Amino acid sequence: MAKRKLQQYADVNTFSNVIQPSHELVQQGHPLRGNWAQGHFHNSHPIVLELGCGKGEYTIDLAEKYPEKNFIGVDRKAARIWTGSKYALENELANVAFLRMDIRAIQQLFDKDEVDEIWITFPDPQPKAPHAKRRLTHPRLLDQYRKLLKRGGVVHLKTDNLAFHEYTLQVLDDMGLELLAVTRDLYKDGSFAEAAAVQTFYEKKFLAEGLPITYLKFRM
Ligand SMILES: C[S@@+](CC[C@H](N)C(=O)[O-])C[C@H]1O[C@@H](n2cnc3c(N)ncnc32)[C@H](O)[C@@H]1O
Repeated sequence: MAKRKLQQYADVNTFSNVIQPSHELVQQGHPLRGNWAQGHFHNSHPIVLELGCGKGEYTIDLAEKYPEKNFIGVDRKAARIWTGSKYALENELANVAFLRMDIRAIQQLFDKDEVDEIWITFPDPQPKAPHAKRRLTHPRLLDQYRKLLKRGGVVHLKTDNLAFHEYTLQVLDDMGLELLAVTRDLYKDGSFAEAAAVQTFYEKKFLAEGLPITYLKFRM
């Protein structure tokens, strides 16, 4: 492994805003489960998750925009999380944390009704049918989100991948979930100011290439 990556791994282990649950704690139940607001953020503010946060730019931008909410970026890659967590520590952003884990076990880290809102930003599309269970909007994962979200909690999805967007629409329809917003071109449409206000790393890259960004918002 490259020296820089090794250093990032070592750094992340010392960062107070990065939680890296062991396999055992994921299985047995993490002490923060059901206690994120008080136990980690020392407040009772709403909890917002970004799933597949990468380097965490979106989590950071949202946290700076909405200081009255707590933001947790979730990703399995330490070297990516390093960027956002370092920035948050250096800039004393107390309403930001990063959780390094596989999202497919997310229900083990959050209790029923603990989360107010979820953003899924530019997920890996996993186009091959045998990999469908890895899609972050697969019904099995939506079932997990439903449990940890508060009643009426919403999920936002932004992607450049039209097939993933359409797949998710079909899943929502099959599950009878309430669609609150949908567009195949967020920036051309201009109707969804909240979703267009902040861009992720990948989103900026795709926008620079002239690709349309699709957006969905649904209630669980
Ligand atoms: C294409 S990147 C998008 C990063 C960021 N959201 C953005 O838009 O710039 C997808 C991210 O999702 C993460 N990811 C994909 N599947 C995951 C899983 N099952 N658990 C945790 N992270 C996952 C990857 O590690 C990667 O950082």
